[in-house]
Amino acid sequence: MCGIVGYIGKQKAAPILIEGLKRLEYRGYDSAGISIIGKNKITTIKSVGKVSSLEDKIGGKSIAGNVGIAHTRWATHGKPSDKNSHPHGDCKGNIFLVHNGIIENYIELKSSLAKKGHKFKSETDSEVIVHLIEEFNKKLDFKNAVLEALKLIKGTYGLAIINKKEPEKIIAARLGSPLVLGIGGDEYVIASDASAVVRHTNQVIYLEDGEVAVIEKDNYEVTDIKDKSKNKKITKLDWSIEEAEKQGFDHFMLKEIFEQPKAIEDATRGRLVVSEGTAKLGGLRDVADKLRKLDRIIIVSCGTSYYAGLVGEYMLEEYAGIPVEVEYASEFRYRKPILDEKTAVLAISQSGETADTLEAIREGNNKGAITLGIVNTVGSTIARETTAGVYNHAGPEIGVASTKAFTSQLSVLILLTLLLGRQRQMSYVMGKRIASEMKKIPKQVEEILSQSKEIKKIAKKYLKYKNILYLGRKYNEPIALEGALKIKEISYIHAEGYPSGEMKHGPIALIDENFPSVFVVPKDSVYEKNISGMQEIKARGGKIIAIATEGDKEIKKHADDVIYIPKTLEMLTPLLSVVPLQLLAYYVGTGLGYDVDKPRNLAKSVTVE
Ligand code: F6R
Repeated sequence: MCGIVGYIGKQKAAPILIEGLKRLEYRGYDSAGISIIGKNKITTIKSVGKVSSLEDKIGGKSIAGNVGIAHTRWATHGKPSDKNSHPHGDCKGNIFLVHNGIIENYIELKSSLAKKGHKFKSETDSEVIVHLIEEFNKKLDFKNAVLEALKLIKGTYGLAIINKKEPEKIIAARLGSPLVLGIGGDEYVIASDASAVVRHTNQVIYLEDGEVAVIEKDNYEVTDIKDKSKNKKITKLDWSIEEAEKQGFDHFMLKEIFEQPKAIEDATRGRLVVSEGTAKLGGLRDVADKLRKLDRIIIVSCGTSYYAGLVGEYMLEEYAGIPVEVEYASEFRYRKPILDEKTAVLAISQSGETADTLEAIREGNNKGAITLGIVNTVGSTIARETTAGVYNHAGPEIGVASTKAFTSQLSVLILLTLLLGRQRQMSYVMGKRIASEMKKIPKQVEEILSQSKEIKKIAKKYLKYKNILYLGRKYNEPIALEGALKIKEISYIHAEGYPSGEMKHGPIALIDENFPSVFVVPKDSVYEKNISGMQEIKARGGKIIAIATEGDKEIKKHADDVIYIPKTLEMLTPLLSVVPLQLLAYYVGTGLGYDVDKPRNLAKSVTVE
């Protein structure tokens, strides 16, 4: 949610910042801007729209300067426009900053600064910060002016700030919005996440909430906002720039759909122990005793990660025998959840930075629950604030619509089910059966991917519809919800995901020849019930795409189009059935001509509540 990047070193800053913005663009693409410190002035260029519009505006002009900051925006306060774009400058054009987050007390700060004569150019909350720093900078040096300003701000921020009066410096600060400092040989890159840093260095430090970094050409210092020095650990990034590039695919989304066999392998490698019918999860070793005594798990997550949690609920209750509740993280802390040391609050998050999920975890920590994470982004805030957890190891997910993160989350949930199940009532035989079927999943996903051409043809037939209903039952009910979310995000077709058993209680009223349905109907324990549902739709003239199990010829009698998935255990079907739905959404979205990697109004990691 907004991407920020800053560069200080020996190279020209502008091209490095533009490149960094492109990597962060998935965080927001309402507008982009850049400020570079030159000899006696700061050059600022901004543009509404994507980073490519900013590049067009720069138009190949070479901007001199080795120190600069840049921003790609996901609008919160003030509509996307040049004047609302970052970087924001002070009255005299000395200080510029980029901000990710929300300043909650900006109205009162703005009016008191206006009384002191500050002139505001934008409608944003962010602009008050730069004027506040300007005010303190009248008497204090740059660093102390920033520290004093931060003491007055309420809200969240990731900030990078430059000042013409102290031109060889970037000051960065974090509270609630992530910041990573890349430490190169003779350069530093500060960014919202590591994807903008990894081209330059794999040595990084993650700033914590309440920390401020003063970065100069040949050194850096981290303090808290009271200027107390902090000792920071340097971490080595374990992924490469190639992993963050498209590698010949038209979109990151398609590349990431095709990466799923590897992502599932990577999530389970060294963890799935077929011979013992269990899983080993190093990240949970320290809490092994507490896990044995657990009474209850509350899964907190949002969007696609929430749907992974719903699948997890079925798995964990059926095979590990632990009561599970799944909560929208955005609702969790507004209730009065009853938690104790025998309750685990489990966050599922690709980015590890989703504000709602993070706050739910903090609530869990405050109330004495064990907090756990299934997180993809190494070193992210949720990973750091949970007591223990498991990384997905899916590699960077850049496409805004989540795909490989989802199947890798499901894979980790299966591992967790095996681990907890085998500590409880699950037999060795059952554990071994699940583990050996799980081993086959990556190959089975490949089989589904090999049908992508046929799925594209099916997608073409559905481009004209304005509404689609997605239906499934038991393990595949959350998959129906996820299929609907995927298509609405990237094709803007209205889609509803529904438990198929609920259809007759209302949604069936919508069905006619203009309202098709996608039915997730593998050969499982609810197959016959699903067939009845399909017949009810057919009787009302509705078209059906069925996601069915290989060899199920019967299904063709009830559906207009069928996409087959290989046979597996019922609990593992979601790992397969979601793949055709991702492809269907992708081909509908691209068929309608949309940029599916950057769907309108969305951002990859939602770091505001
Ligand atoms: C959907 C999607 C979002 C995210 C949600 C949670 O395709 O990407 O719904 O799943 O914003 O994000 P994370 O998993 O990063 O916490």
